[in-house]
Amino acid sequence: MSRLEIEGLCKGWDFPVIDRLDLTVEEGEFFVIVGPSGIGKTTLLRLVAGLERPDAGRIKVGGRDLTDLPPYRRKVAMTFESYALYPHLTVFENIASPLRARRLPKSRITETVVSVAQLLRIEQLLSRRPGEISGGQKQRTALGRTLVAQPDVFLLDEPISHLDAKIRHELRLQFHTLEELRKVATLYVTHDYAEALSLGDRIGVMGAGGLLQVGTAREIFQQPQHLFVAQHLGQPSINVVPAALSSVDGALQFAAEGAELKLPVAEPHGQALAGRSSERITVGIRPQHVKVIRDGEVTTDTTGGAAVVDATVAIYEALGANGILVAETGGVRLTALTAPDAVFQHGEAVRLALRNDAFLYFDAASGRNVMVA
Ligand SMILES: Nc1ncnc2c1ncn2[C@@H]1O[C@H](COP(=O)(O)OP(=O)(O)OP(=O)(O)O)[C@@H](O)[C@H]1O
Ligand SMILES: [Mg+2]
Repeated sequence: MSRLEIEGLCKGWDFPVIDRLDLTVEEGEFFVIVGPSGIGKTTLLRLVAGLERPDAGRIKVGGRDLTDLPPYRRKVAMTFESYALYPHLTVFENIASPLRARRLPKSRITETVVSVAQLLRIEQLLSRRPGEISGGQKQRTALGRTLVAQPDVFLLDEPISHLDAKIRHELRLQFHTLEELRKVATLYVTHDYAEALSLGDRIGVMGAGGLLQVGTAREIFQQPQHLFVAQHLGQPSINVVPAALSSVDGALQFAAEGAELKLPVAEPHGQALAGRSSERITVGIRPQHVKVIRDGEVTTDTTGGAAVVDATVAIYEALGANGILVAETGGVRLTALTAPDAVFQHGEAVRLALRNDAFLYFDAASGRNVMVA
């Protein structure tokens, strides 16, 4: 049994970092934590590993209270952002160190080390020392050492962040099927939102003090409870438009603050927002819900309840598989995701079809999603 339970965890120094955090990670669950730099992600893992003492709260694994146990008695394996490799040992011996500690037979150790090194594409480096390999290779060595440890809980702190995009994607796919990881509870920290959405059975978005929202990739992305969560997940980032609601001839609309842009509120949101007419509101518009239309182009998208506005291209980036376009409309800049075959010129006149039935609305003061009760 390796269910991880964190109850009322608090930790701070001269300021609070983690404040009454509660979290349960089930046995076999891959739980991903995302959040901005300096918010407390590493601190949380270090508390679970026993490298920091909590100010309050309990940490249990499989019902066993670990809070007062030293790190080596916790059966928890952690990769560190700084790798923490033994400089005098070879890559082989670094990876083998948890196996040696368990006094496994020599042949078992070799077999395990070689197989994990193959998985991580570092089998040709096994006789080198950390001083003779690159940063990305060190990171994979540290990950290898963690993966062979057979702990009750895996704590992985940005374990593949320093690898190139291709290897990162390869390893991300491996993580989906790696049996070691799928047997126990795993807490995985990343900055990469695609990695989080891809890997997490559930994802926790960390803000000041603790987790702002916990849910599946779909829940977190489509129903962010907080503006902070919406801004943290998605590439390019969600468009954020501060606005004021008003009722015009019985129909709800919003006007962007300090700009001319006015848009109707679509039906699914009308009821929830009706009680807020004349209030300030923050509108979230995902770039994939902004469709760019050229003059004269006929679009079927507008039939899906989209509002169409005139716009001017401010910036266009061609990124191969798609493009990112920043357009100005009524004094507001909106980012759109465009198709690969379309190329746009700076200053070009276009129209934007805005899928207002997919907009998100957040309370201007608290940042809470007003559509999620
Ligand atoms: N030993 C310490 N003494 C004092 N403050 C600390 C200590 N360790 C961490 N902190 C502070 O706690 C906060 C959280 O740090 P932490 O390393 O957990 O952030 P993080 O979310 O992992 O950030 P990053 O994404 O940059 O790795 C930071 O403000 C950091 O300066
Ligand atoms: Mg960190």
